Amino acid sequence: MRTRLLAVTPSSRSRHLEEAVRVLLGGGLVAFPTETVYGLGADATNPRAVGGIFAAKGRPGDNPLIVHVASLEEAQALGAFDDRARALAARFWPGPLTLVVEADPRIPEEVRAGLPSVAIRMPRHLLAQDLIRLAGVPVAAPSANRSGRPSPTDAASVREDLDGRIPLILDGGPAEVGVESTVVDVTGEKVVLLRPGGISSEDLERVCGPLGYPQGEDLLRRSPGTRHRHYAPGVPLWLWDGGDVPEEIRILEREGVPWGYVGVLPPPANPAWELRGGTFEEYAALLFRALRRLEQQGARGILAEWPRGKAGIARALRDRLSRASGGREPLVNEPERC
Ligand code: TXA
Ligand code: MG
Repeated sequence: MRTRLLAVTPSSRSRHLEEAVRVLLGGGLVAFPTETVYGLGADATNPRAVGGIFAAKGRPGDNPLIVHVASLEEAQALGAFDDRARALAARFWPGPLTLVVEADPRIPEEVRAGLPSVAIRMPRHLLAQDLIRLAGVPVAAPSANRSGRPSPTDAASVREDLDGRIPLILDGGPAEVGVESTVVDVTGEKVVLLRPGGISSEDLERVCGPLGYPQGEDLLRRSPGTRHRHYAPGVPLWLWDGGDVPEEIRILEREGVPWGYVGVLPPPANPAWELRGGTFEEYAALLFRALRRLEQQGARGILAEWPRGKAGIARALRDRLSRASGGREPLVNEPERC
């Protein structure tokens, strides 16, 4: 299959959107930008099209998808919104928050991976909104990477992973947030954090009170996605909290082997390449792209700053970094005080 990459400009926008809608409604896959990361979209009402997502990504079939909508009404037709879900949607939609609610049983099994719940999100990226609205159907979309790779935050990263496997990529420039949406489960007594992301826990708690932070088996049971390996670059990733230079980096330096750095603080020692943000928000926006580019440039190892606190976006950064560095039990969901 030939993959077409359509660059969206003010003059090509409506033509390219029409083309993307045609592909979606024909049962095909379209990669499109959202404010978090690029998504790989299919018509959520078409089980065959949804099956295509799993095939293109090499995604395990037991990992359910997020359904993207263009309005609250559309969301409420897909699942049961109680007062808490409505309050969260009213405050944070459109935006990087995904709500897991009890599903309308008509939602295809393939989307929900057989669960009785469904994850729903209304993105704030205008191209994503227009695509969903013009298609007139909810759009199931995981991140548009090969399973296990860092999520794509630009069209070039999507092409790296999915060239020849999908018909169309809409290029709307780099994603603004750079880490995926925050996922909360609103089906139980307590609102529970399943994945930290673009909306902070502090902001959520101001709307719905104290969150639950499931750990270990409890988290695995509630959030099938956390079972699978994630975000890994192809070279070792080490974490640095601003203290002593890690032993691995000392060894690389001694042997003259090039390594890369990403973070906010100035790097310890002398990386061959460094990518720095001025704030944790900027760090989050460049992290996944940095992991891909440093590896491509020939870094034999990557050192990433480990945020010492977990306020705001730092919680999501710590989650993605600990999973990307592998090797130890991921701190997927750190409790409030630890
Ligand atoms: O920002 C985002 O969320 C991006 C953009 C494209 O919207 N999407 C994304 O999708 O990150 P994905 O598939 O990479 O991650 C979806 C997460 C997975 O961890 C999955 O297990 C979880 O949401 N999820 C989906 N449906 C669920 C459900 N019914 N119950 C619990 N977790 C669910
Ligand atoms: Mg993903």
